[in-house]
Amino acid sequence: MLPQKSEFAKYWSINPNTVFLNHGSFGATTKLVLEEQDKLRNQLESDPVWFLEEVVEEMWLDSILSLSNFLNADPKGMAFLSNATSGVNTVLKSLSLNPGDEIIVPNHTYQACWNAVDFVASRTGAETVIVEIPFPVNSKEEIIEPILENVSRKTRLAIIDTVSSPTGIRMPFEDLIFHLQSKKVDVLLDAAHGPGIVPLDLNKLKPAYCAGNLHKWICTPKGSAFLHIREDKIGGIRPLSISHGASVNGTIEEKFRFEFDWQGTCDPTPWLCIPKAISHIENLVDGGWSEVMRRNRELVLAARKILSEELGLDLPCPDSMIASLASIIIPNKGEIANSVFDTDPLHSKLIREFGIQVPVFNWPHHDRRYLRISAHLYNHIDEYKYLAKVLSDLI
Ligand SMILES: Cc1ncc(COP(=O)(O)O)c(C=O)c1O
Repeated sequence: MLPQKSEFAKYWSINPNTVFLNHGSFGATTKLVLEEQDKLRNQLESDPVWFLEEVVEEMWLDSILSLSNFLNADPKGMAFLSNATSGVNTVLKSLSLNPGDEIIVPNHTYQACWNAVDFVASRTGAETVIVEIPFPVNSKEEIIEPILENVSRKTRLAIIDTVSSPTGIRMPFEDLIFHLQSKKVDVLLDAAHGPGIVPLDLNKLKPAYCAGNLHKWICTPKGSAFLHIREDKIGGIRPLSISHGASVNGTIEEKFRFEFDWQGTCDPTPWLCIPKAISHIENLVDGGWSEVMRRNRELVLAARKILSEELGLDLPCPDSMIASLASIIIPNKGEIANSVFDTDPLHSKLIREFGIQVPVFNWPHHDRRYLRISAHLYNHIDEYKYLAKVLSDLI
């Protein structure tokens, strides 16, 4: 018998025969928001020209304002993109780097973004400065100090996660933005796990750049992400697709909107669903988003405790460094795959034989494998108890 899901599971379409503990990879969209997207798509397809010429602009602006309000961000610097990876690439490919310039990359950084840094570095003669962050890690100082020690006169940029992907650490990003930018190092905040999992106040934090996803923790349809650029940096960043906006005259702000808001024909509905997604989840529990984040965090904390007790493992970081994702170090490390495209055998066994959807990350940079759990409103503590029982037999 599979474990129960929570009372909120009815709002999602998650397969009842899957113990879905991987919200972190691609999110999961609620039924209501998918219905909204269907409605918008039908409207679009009834006259695509009318929709894209006459209807979309007001809805788009509404989405920009709704998201900017949610993140306390300046709407003038807010652009929609399809995913966080393209946000990171947009910034990196816009920078004019010189030979010897340095970009800081902590060694818990999402591999795709790390690859993008290596790519621009190799083309320009710049250097990727990899900072070793311990894991297990006991305090935020163990993260902040090595990063700051690696700042030099040549450091141009640092990529800092809100929550790290393989290790599920809620990074001390607020302190890091402050300290790095005080040393004149721009921060590219990777908020792929940002909105809806950690409180974000971009007007207060003022990162030079912030790339983030809505399709993860806000549960919008896939392909709904943003790049926020601080006011003084707007003129320096161009979209990945140079399109019509490039030949239109206007102020820097107007050019920004023309260039980022039209990068070629695409389906805008994932972005148009942002206001609905924010308000839908907000209204599921008393206390809105801060209560959603609190619940999800409490659930993942309880879950990782169960896993550590059942498996006799030490927790790799204190509770204060956890949001709604948590990783454990797999004790018998086995063979570490170098490619994300190689499926981990434990991951395959868990889904194929036990119906448990949970990621196992092979992380060659630490020579380890990590198993990461997520918690969103639809999850129930019994699901993690079931995972713990199954794992205790397998590892
Ligand atoms: C820290 C981090 N950065 C970037 C990404 C990339 O997100 P996307 O695939 O939406 O571009 C992820 C995805 O899980 C991530 O965890």
